[in-house]
Amino acid sequence: MSEHLTPTPADHFTFGLWTVGWTARDPFGEATRAPLDAVEAVHKLAELGAYGITFHDDDLIPFGSDDAERQRRITAFREALDGTGLKVPMMTTNLFTHPMFKEGALTANDRGVRRFAMRKVMRNLDLAAELGAHTYVFWGGREGSETETTKDVAAALDRMREGLDTLQQYCLDNGYDIRFALEPKPNEPRGDILLPTVGHALAFINTLEHADRVGLNPEVGHEQMAGLNFVHGIAQALWQGKLFHIDLNGQRGIKYDQDLIFGHGDLINAFFLVDLLESGGYQGPRHFDYKPLRTESYDGVWRSAAANMRTYLLLKERAAAFRADPEVVEALEAAQVPELAQPTLAAGESWRDLAADRAAFEDYDTETAGARSVGAVRLEQLAIEHLLGAR
Ligand code: GCO
Ligand code: MN
Ligand code: MN
Repeated sequence: MSEHLTPTPADHFTFGLWTVGWTARDPFGEATRAPLDAVEAVHKLAELGAYGITFHDDDLIPFGSDDAERQRRITAFREALDGTGLKVPMMTTNLFTHPMFKEGALTANDRGVRRFAMRKVMRNLDLAAELGAHTYVFWGGREGSETETTKDVAAALDRMREGLDTLQQYCLDNGYDIRFALEPKPNEPRGDILLPTVGHALAFINTLEHADRVGLNPEVGHEQMAGLNFVHGIAQALWQGKLFHIDLNGQRGIKYDQDLIFGHGDLINAFFLVDLLESGGYQGPRHFDYKPLRTESYDGVWRSAAANMRTYLLLKERAAAFRADPEVVEALEAAQVPELAQPTLAAGESWRDLAADRAAFEDYDTETAGARSVGAVRLEQLAIEHLLGAR
């Protein structure tokens, strides 16, 4: 294997403990794998060249553990981190498994559930600060409904805002440098989830008290479940300075959340995603949130962890080759792609100058503009050829 395709911590690959640790219980069948010990996950991921591991509170410390059990698990995990050098850049809360959260957590109609949810997050923020995590993800899997009558959406958004404002204030008052990253998803497990897409979440963030400390953790498959172009969503999140974190995986079209290996879904979109992440100024971890196939035993689990990273590195190599190809540079020029960076008005020009410019309108050759060939096919085929290793 060429060296640049061997993952190292410098690549900043991270994995959720709940990904490799998924025992593959689904709505129709029992687990097909035995539980994975968190300490073993740390060692295995470090061996494979990962940079870090992330987790929900309950992934490490089962819900309802007493203080001694909690401490025992945290200590063993910390020792594994110290021994391997693996980092914990992100943490999150499980606000979806316990039956109490069946109707929501931060936006449950039941005020007691909401207050419990906030305390659950606060306790885990203390641990996040202790372990050095600087990003905290909020995935509102249960924040939604199946019926219009049971949820006052405006009130739910008020409560979501209240929850996030209060919890960020908790971080600031405790001196925790932890930013929040909202993870949109259109549905599953709820029929409809609040803040279903990158666009909804971006608009919502603007209403927050600490909007500058709240961004996004978009997941490939979640936008694709809604039929959206993930690369466009990520480009806008970057443009708005809101790409705090990312969940990489694969999805094939509009259906249930597949959480496939990165690249094992829409490969062309994955190619352009890596191209964008590598050139668009994203500095955060390349985090994999996928589910090793239920058909596989642990050999397949570790193979799938390695596959995520190798596919990313392959796409990174292919994207760099695409960008460096002189024919691509020329085809981009021919398609006027760089021209879009040029402002529509000239420096110092006003709408009055534009209105007086006969060349812009009265004398503009609309026939020629309408007849021009954009060159999209040539460009896209060049990309496919690079992706397939044909160039
Ligand atoms: C999903 C989600 C979850 C969240 C994770 C963080 O696949 O529906 O991605 O995996 O990312 O639970 O809270
Ligand atoms: Mn998912
Ligand atoms: Mn996710």
